[in-house]
Order: sequence, then structure tokens, then C-alpha cells
Amino acid sequence: MKKEQVILMLCTIVIAIPLVQSVSEGPKAVKNWFKELPLKKQKSTNLHFYFHDTIAGPGQTAYQVFDSNITSTTMSQFGLGFMFDNPLTVDPEASSMRIGRGQGLFGSASLEVPRFLMNLNFVFTEGSFNGSTLQVLGTNPILSQVREMSVVGGTGVFRLARGIATAQPFFRNDTSTILEFDLVVLHY
Ligand SMILES: *[C@@H]1O[C@H](CO)[C@@H](O)[C@H](O)[C@H]1NC(C)=O
Ligand SMILES: *[C@@H]1O[C@H](CO)[C@@H](O)[C@H](O)[C@H]1NC(C)=O
Ligand SMILES: *[C@@H]1O[C@H](CO)[C@@H](O)[C@H](O)[C@H]1NC(C)=O
Repeated sequence: MKKEQVILMLCTIVIAIPLVQSVSEGPKAVKNWFKELPLKKQKSTNLHFYFHDTIAGPGQTAYQVFDSNITSTTMSQFGLGFMFDNPLTVDPEASSMRIGRGQGLFGSASLEVPRFLMNLNFVFTEGSFNGSTLQVLGTNPILSQVREMSVVGGTGVFRLARGIATAQPFFRNDTSTILEFDLVVLHY
């Protein structure tokens, strides 16, 4: 191997490593992380991606897991719930780069206006947040153009995270919904 090639390889490695942010895992590493917390600076990270929810058909990723005795007789379909494992992509197209999954449970929790309870975990599997997760817990007014939900925690590089997630419908038909998510997250 020529000297220039070796140098080029080393440069590539040096550039590639900082792209993945990571923290040490395990009980000891977590204890140390908390010990060093007073020295850490809080930072703000913006995330933007698309969430693909498919409730029927070949690419189904969301499945009904419960309903209630009044689901069919209420306008809000009260008590209807789905478990989902939906892909997250950088662009609206389902074929664009996947950065993780949006996993959890949503269900109609309002007797009157359609409003869903969201228990949503963003599990990042690619890119700079690979291995880290964010937890969204909130109420989703599904007929609104903008739905604001709270980010209540995280793991990995998002330990002790809090923030706000906004979801906006990008596409919708009878079987698929694509939501555009914007998150602002404070973490260390
Ligand atoms: C719900 O419906 C089932 C089946 O019809 C019935 O057995 C049950 O008693 C109902 N429960 C309530 C709380 O109304
Ligand atoms: C993401 O992390 C997993 C587990 O550490 C690893 O196996 C995988 O190769 C990583 N993927 C990328 C794209 O870095
Ligand atoms: C809804 O849109 C998706 C994505 O474009 C498509 O695969 C699916 O066939 C559509 N479903 C219906 C019922 O039109």
C-alpha cells in the first residue's frame, strides 16, 4: 500500500468516528455519567424525520391490539388502540434512508373529539444517534394540522432528555399515514 493511501485511510477513519455520538453503557458507566453531570453542558439538538404508519396491506407496521364496547358507537372511536413499529426516514419517500423506528402504542382516549394517547419510543439505528432512544408521551389531536407532544426522556446520548415533538401530516390515505416530525431536545 502506498503512503498516500494509508494517510487517506487514516483521515477517513478520523473523520468517520466523531459522526457517531456514543456513551459508555452499563451500570458503572451510568453512575460515572451522573457523577460527571455537574460538569456537563446542556445542549439543544434538532431532529427532523418522517414516520410511516401503515395499518393494512403488504407493508403493514401498525396492528390493532384493543378496542372497547363503545369504539363503534363513538365518533372518536373511544378505546381503539394500535401497537406499531413504524420506520423513520430522512425524506418523505419510504425508500429513503432509514434512521430508526417509532415504536409504541396509540389509542383513542377521548370520548368526544378525536384525540389519541401516544406512548412513542424513537429507537435510532443509523447515523449519529445510533443506539440512542427518545421517549414521547403525549396527547395527539389527530385532526389538527400541528400536534405538539412532550419528549419526556431518553437513553444513550439522550440521557435525561426533555423537549418538544411536533408532528404534521404529510400524506394520508385509507391505509397509510406519513407524519413529519420535528423535535427540539435538551440533553447533555
Ligand atoms: C362489553 O361487551 C361484551 C360483549 O358484548 C359484554 O360481555 C360485556 O359485558 C360488555 N362490557 C361492558 C362493560 O359493557
Ligand atoms: C448501529 O449500532 C449497532 C449496535 O451497536 C451496530 O451493530 C450497527 O452496525 C450500527 N449501525 C450503523 C449504521 O452504524
Ligand atoms: C396508500 O398509499 C400507500 C403509499 O403510497 C400505497 O402503498 C397504498 O397502496 C395506498 N393505499 C390505498 C388504499 O390507496
